[in-house]
Amino acid sequence: HTHPIPVITIDGPTASGKGTVAHRVALQLGFHFLDSGSLYRLTALSALRHQASLNDEHALAKLAEKLPCKFVGDQVWLANENVTSAIRAEEVGNTASKIAVLPTVRRALVGLQLGFRAAPGLVADGRDMGTVIFPQATVKVFLTASVEARAYRRHKQLIDKGFPATMEDLLKDLRERDARDSGRAIAPLKPADGAYILDTSDMTADQAVEQVLRWYAAVKKHA
Ligand code: DC
Repeated sequence: HTHPIPVITIDGPTASGKGTVAHRVALQLGFHFLDSGSLYRLTALSALRHQASLNDEHALAKLAEKLPCKFVGDQVWLANENVTSAIRAEEVGNTASKIAVLPTVRRALVGLQLGFRAAPGLVADGRDMGTVIFPQATVKVFLTASVEARAYRRHKQLIDKGFPATMEDLLKDLRERDARDSGRAIAPLKPADGAYILDTSDMTADQAVEQVLRWYAAVKKHA
């Protein structure tokens, strides 16, 4: 008989380190990787470029539906432009968080996300990977960290990339974004049924990766 293609979902708040952890887990297992946040960021960037109103749900959903994006290794393209670093800007992240509350935008991105599931497996990183997009995932992880730990990590990330940032602004932004991502009616950020909770405030990325791999190995053994 055939086994379904395994999926590991890693959901959590912004700057929790889930991106790094999910990416490394995918590399270790030789699995495909979906950074679903990048799809909301691409939609946001596309909206900013087209000067689409953030109130025009229909126009935003159309942009999401026809997103001319391409993932090549760790590089992301929008039409003919390499937008790998552009989509990481705080303005784009904030806009992404705002348009992610719109049900038609979320619906427009479902098919694209499901398409990432391919042999030998997928690691999917986001907010609703385990709750909405892949509820039957092999292993579901809710990866979190204190807001201070996350602000500190995000600060280091931004400074390393040459973006200006202060801890004070980042703490404020993270709290606002947490409230928006967790408080929205559609696909709010919350642990999926059966999710393992992983608090990485006092953990290195490698320790978190090891934990996820142990959970996956344990489930696989009993499959
Ligand atoms: O993980 P990130 O910061 O790149 O995500 C950017 C925004 O996209 C985030 O504020 C909320 C939204 N998002 C979402 O609503 N659902 C997902 N699966 C991933 C991201």
